[in-house]
Amino acid sequence: MEPSKEFVFKYKGFYFGVNTSVEHVASLENFEIKDSDIFIATYPKSGTVWTQNILSLILHEGHRNGTEDMELMDRIPWLEYNIKNIDFTSLPVPRVFATHLPYYLLPRDLRNKKGRIIYVTRNPKDVLVSYYHFSKFIITLEEVPDFNIFMERFLAGKVLASSWFDHVAGWYGHAEDFNILFLTYEDMKKDLRSAVLKICNFLGKKLSEEEIESVVRQATFENMKKDPRANYENLPDDIADKSKGRFLRKGTVGDWKNMMTVAQSERFDEVLNEKIKTLPIKITWDINSET
Ligand code: PPS
Repeated sequence: MEPSKEFVFKYKGFYFGVNTSVEHVASLENFEIKDSDIFIATYPKSGTVWTQNILSLILHEGHRNGTEDMELMDRIPWLEYNIKNIDFTSLPVPRVFATHLPYYLLPRDLRNKKGRIIYVTRNPKDVLVSYYHFSKFIITLEEVPDFNIFMERFLAGKVLASSWFDHVAGWYGHAEDFNILFLTYEDMKKDLRSAVLKICNFLGKKLSEEEIESVVRQATFENMKKDPRANYENLPDDIADKSKGRFLRKGTVGDWKNMMTVAQSERFDEVLNEKIKTLPIKITWDINSET
């Protein structure tokens, strides 16, 4: 079943939500990049907001200096969904953007290793489950109440951001073109401090022990959940139906086991297993058992 045109449109083989436009998306290919620019690139539901918060904290040495009153979405705007019409050229440096774009639609300059990209992946069954719940909560996404139908759409890449596999394979397959750091949601979950250190190292940012501790403390699921500026609690009512969920939902590894039947999990494996074998990554399906 095709996704409804009421919610998505296709541009160069990739599904976008209708709260952006072909003109804006097309213009990004020529968007001028500064050496100091940083991009967080992900397939949806892979830890984007988490990484946005970590990055914002690192760049402010574990504090919120001057950004206390700012929503995370304003501190680190979405590249392709510029819903607040921010003038990207006037943002303070280093500019940081979040994006779900596939590698081939990002600004061309990035290919010349200008700017830096942090790409975060998450195991696709948890992505699927998180995405399913998110579709109920976000008004601008098509709600597919039947989980089985949603899973088939996800596997066929007929959802906003298209195929999980193509996204991940594309970014990993073109890693050499970019100045890029790969992280996984599961590694961040297992050892957040190491992930913070990796990001600092990648950005050439030196923080004291105390500052690192402060970043780690504020980026845990529990503490982010309590912070309305970091947890997207203030999304406008025409975007989120707050009676149907929260942005920070469970924040765990392996939640797919609570949602998927054995038959659904097997169907998922059948479709993705052959493809997954060709990816240069090890997928952590559960925090206690890596396969
Ligand atoms: S989006 O809509 O694509 O930007 O969503 P994204 O931010 O990529 O992913 C949302 C999921 O990330 C979880 N999350 C966290 N997990 C652990 N720790 C922290 N601090 C954290 N912050 C966000 C969030 O809860 C969503 O996952 P689920 O499984 O739905 O809880």
